[in-house]
Amino acid sequence: MSRSAHPAGPRHADVLPEGHYQAPPSDLNHLDQRVWSRTVTRNADGAVEVGGLDVRALAEEFGTPAYFLDEADFRSRCRAWRAAFGNDADVFYAGKAFLSRAVVRWLTEEGLNLDVCSGTELAVALDAGMPAERIALHGNNKSTAEIERAVTAGVGRIVLDSFQEIVRVAAIAQEHGVRQRVQIRVTVGVEAHTHEFIATAHEDQKFGLALADGMAAEAVHRVLKLESLELVGIHSHIGSQIFDMAGFEVAARRVVSLLGDVRDEHGVELPEIDLGGGLGIAYTSEDDPREPQDIAKALGEIVTRECEAAGLRVPRLSVEPGRAIVGPTAFTLYEVGTVKPLEGLRTYVSVDGGMSDNIRTALYDAEYTVALVSRTSEAPPMLSRVVGKHCESGDIVVKDAFLPSDLAPGDLLAVPATGAYCRAMASNYNHALRPPVVAVADGGARVIVRRETEDDLLRLDVG
Ligand code: LLP
Repeated sequence: MSRSAHPAGPRHADVLPEGHYQAPPSDLNHLDQRVWSRTVTRNADGAVEVGGLDVRALAEEFGTPAYFLDEADFRSRCRAWRAAFGNDADVFYAGKAFLSRAVVRWLTEEGLNLDVCSGTELAVALDAGMPAERIALHGNNKSTAEIERAVTAGVGRIVLDSFQEIVRVAAIAQEHGVRQRVQIRVTVGVEAHTHEFIATAHEDQKFGLALADGMAAEAVHRVLKLESLELVGIHSHIGSQIFDMAGFEVAARRVVSLLGDVRDEHGVELPEIDLGGGLGIAYTSEDDPREPQDIAKALGEIVTRECEAAGLRVPRLSVEPGRAIVGPTAFTLYEVGTVKPLEGLRTYVSVDGGMSDNIRTALYDAEYTVALVSRTSEAPPMLSRVVGKHCESGDIVVKDAFLPSDLAPGDLLAVPATGAYCRAMASNYNHALRPPVVAVADGGARVIVRRETEDDLLRLDVG
């Protein structure tokens, strides 16, 4: 295995083709604690450790690519959110970010609730012992079977997303002799400053009932007339990977204003408000996320202020962070297969995964960082693009990064902050086998989602 430098490669930051990057960091071996899970460090050998375990040994035991999830970090983030919101509020972890039985058990133990958005997420949650009353079911087109499963399991709330669904859920609840607790999802009409595909509060999109055109008020009116539904609150989710609290504040103000209208028109004060998820995390050193206590304080104050102004009792607040809890807790470990320097451009570094284990770069232009983790290097930085092994040139994991110019096949790279929406959105493109998720805790590592096998794929292929 060669560890020699690539003299022909672009060597320094004076080679800056189009792209988004800062100057190369002064020390490529440094791990910025903002983007790495909390127990990640370098050991005396220069290799990176997570929870006291050397990535070289982890690669040996579990193979690459693989996601390594720091359980202590996950649990401490759960506790931070719980503590920040206190006993007068609920924290629903958004299972879509990453869900597995182990995660459900951790959430249950740490006192979080769970938001699911499909019957199968619900199945995982129930199977792993999350009490049904702590689960909320979301979705803009829940099937009859999904609604039936949720109603019969006794989920704590179903979040209604359309007029058709009001009728559907009411009928199913009635059939089963249940009075189902529901919230109505509204679109508050704010533009969240995030990628178009993950912004959800503007009116021109598929989710929710708009406040502006009176649909939300009409939905409240209809739900209140139905015996089998108990309307407990209003739900708003404005989008994802948001740093600016202004959007949440506008959302809170508009939702409280609807509560005031409902009180005036129907004489009922709805007891709950859910302001959704969407809090941003640090993917790179440039991102500066808010801490849960700041978020809780900002949201709590605005809801209290608006309710006092409207003469309303302050409703029970809930939030649904997914990314902010699981995102920072995991990294993806890859092995370098090829290194292709292009003079005057950049160096293409191919790893053994790609868009099948992280579609976010291709889909949202997401930015990630990457580090050489199997050793340190004092070689000068080279502008690099970390790409996968799939059959298209959009198969990019990290678009612009500086890596040491002595990078060679067999080196291990890790991409931090891949806990959210990477394994959850992984695919079998090119019949890739989806990587395992390995939980690291107390100096030990265990597989919580195993690597797919060729047999798994062949079993589905029944032709
Ligand atoms: N609540 C609701 C109703 C949601 O729709 C979502 C995310 C969340 C909570 C959690 O949002 P978070 O806190 O994780 O941002 N695949 C995209 C993200 C899609 C988010 C969809 N809904 C990505 O990779 O960025």
